Amino acid sequence: MAPSTKNSVILGEALASEDVNLVFPTEDFSRQAHVSSIQKYGEKYGRSVEDPAGFWSDIASGFYWKQKWGQPVYADNLDIRKGKINIEWFKGGKTNICYNCLDRNIKSGNGDKIAIYWEGNEPGHDATLTYNQLLARVCQLANYLKDIGVGKGDAVIIYLPMLMELPIAMLACARIGAIHSVVFAGFSAESIAQRIMDCKPKVVITCNAVRRGPKTIFLKDIVDAALTESAQNGINIDVCLTFENESALKKEVTKWVEGRDIWWQDVVPKYPVTCEVEWVDAEDPLFLLYTSGSTGKPKGVLHTTGGYMVYTATTFKYAFDYKSKDIYWCTADCGWITGHSYVTYGPLLNGATNVVFEGAPNYPDAGRCWDIVDKYKVSIFYTAPTLVRSLMREGDEYVTRYSRKSLRVLGSVGEPINPSAWRWFFNVVGDGRCPISDTWWQTETGGFMITPLPGAWPQKPGSATLPFFGVQPVIVDEKGVELEGECSGYLCVKSSWPSAFRTLYGDHERYQTTYFSAFPGYYFTGDGCNRDKDGYYWLTGRVDDVINVSGHRIGTAEVESALVSHPQCVEAAVVGVEHEVKGQGIYAFVTLTEGVPYSEELRKSLIKVVREKIGAFAAPDKIHWAPGLPKTRSGKIMRRILRKIASKSLDELGDTSTLADPSVVDQLIALADC
Ligand code: WTA
Repeated sequence: MAPSTKNSVILGEALASEDVNLVFPTEDFSRQAHVSSIQKYGEKYGRSVEDPAGFWSDIASGFYWKQKWGQPVYADNLDIRKGKINIEWFKGGKTNICYNCLDRNIKSGNGDKIAIYWEGNEPGHDATLTYNQLLARVCQLANYLKDIGVGKGDAVIIYLPMLMELPIAMLACARIGAIHSVVFAGFSAESIAQRIMDCKPKVVITCNAVRRGPKTIFLKDIVDAALTESAQNGINIDVCLTFENESALKKEVTKWVEGRDIWWQDVVPKYPVTCEVEWVDAEDPLFLLYTSGSTGKPKGVLHTTGGYMVYTATTFKYAFDYKSKDIYWCTADCGWITGHSYVTYGPLLNGATNVVFEGAPNYPDAGRCWDIVDKYKVSIFYTAPTLVRSLMREGDEYVTRYSRKSLRVLGSVGEPINPSAWRWFFNVVGDGRCPISDTWWQTETGGFMITPLPGAWPQKPGSATLPFFGVQPVIVDEKGVELEGECSGYLCVKSSWPSAFRTLYGDHERYQTTYFSAFPGYYFTGDGCNRDKDGYYWLTGRVDDVINVSGHRIGTAEVESALVSHPQCVEAAVVGVEHEVKGQGIYAFVTLTEGVPYSEELRKSLIKVVREKIGAFAAPDKIHWAPGLPKTRSGKIMRRILRKIASKSLDELGDTSTLADPSVVDQLIALADC
């Protein structure tokens, strides 16, 4: 791998302080920051790309390894032309991420520090766990899992809301070398079943119900349906460990399958509070997380242990300028990658105090987040642009009625943050004094890739700014040629970093073709990107058929296949359309069986089928009746035209003469408001 210092050269250029788009950190902030200037960053960054092995080994040495890693420190072939794509970091090293999160921090004197402040859905309903207590709870569950036969390399599906039991379950799996696969508790029974059939877990962990805002969601019923479906497909799950979430639903009224279902509270507390650690290889799998792609079924993104540990901890420390006194709150759910890397692992590896919130951020009103910030004296607050926009609409009073003086650093993730939301977040929430870390990354990357280091350089609202240590982003044109300087194109990465995903579970072929074939020699992110004259990166959104709704990745193909499973739908084409709060909304063009009339009822039942097949968060915002879809003569749907119709940009339809039947476009336009 050829080291490049090109980025550091660009960064060395002075940023003009008269540029109105630049938002400078205060001198006080910079003075106390881990990285206090762009020059300091440049030095570190330079070393990280010239000597990745040395750079990351030095950092990795700060963790506990039962046995040190071998040589070479890393191996990476990201070039499909040279053979199989292969990424490894710290291979031969034996460690355990749960030990590093808990035991290591306890041994260094932090046993009585609060690890988790848990805030329930209802204000006033809360709990805390110190590092000692968290370890005890993790060990009890780990012992139980071992006892029922879960061992190293076995998969465990976790379908839990944001209870403390969710990080506990993840850590318990990690402690015994089992591979957790958390399924976001908004996914439907069918989605869970699909994941169960793919990874064949030894056990499923869930709870009976949860309250989110004013609603009760009966999670156990959803799991029951999923288990029935997977059993019909030959995959039987012997144990469904169910936590009684008493405030949402009592045990007595929970539906139960004798012999299979076990109450967590009946068994787990009986186990010892210590549990031996299973030392695993740095390259042993830690977790599987399913994510949407542009085609077919969800992909099981596989992350391994050592590199993921080192990288998530390091990015957490630098991108949030984390100090041991900080109180950190990330609003993401552990069902997504953000919750894995920056609710559970990154913060706990740093010995941080973490707020875990069960409820909805606008319940009982739009001031809830700031109420929580004041209650726990949160100093680092990490959230998604969609939440910022929805709270912004409610007006400033909900924010200003709370002090928020504990806040020090703000963070954003999931989609590009539009400059007006950025400025509101900065000026109103942060009172103009807290830098915003707009972190760009992906399920696949495991950790932050492009992110401000607060204190080190000025931000520009809407830009994720500069690459993290060791990351070499490149922008290529459609032919895969690397572009220099100011440019716009496809975002790729040209060298490996420790927390890169290693494969798609059970399908290395798909891993290679999806990510490494479009632009040979590079990892292709699926995102479009501009780089400005200062070397800042501006993400422009997905260039594949993935829609980003409220920061949740949804594959258009998945929504389409859910729609066509409806008996009256013969064809569907789904596109993303700009949405004021969600960033993107789901816009579905639907062709019905010949002779079936359009009706409101049918529209509802089409939306229902998507909720059932995927989950409520994937429900289309709009169903557009389509007697026909614009197709080329070879039968390919021209989504470009559909996107224009959906966004009502009719004067930008472009050339429609290559369509097999150009008249469908007029029909669609005529039906826009039906
Ligand atoms: C988008 C979420 C712009 C991007 C961590 C990426 C962003 C996809 C940002 C990954 C950001 C995430 N600015 N776009 N700060 N963060 N994205 O896998 O399109 O759920 O490819 O990971 O979200 O979504 P995923």
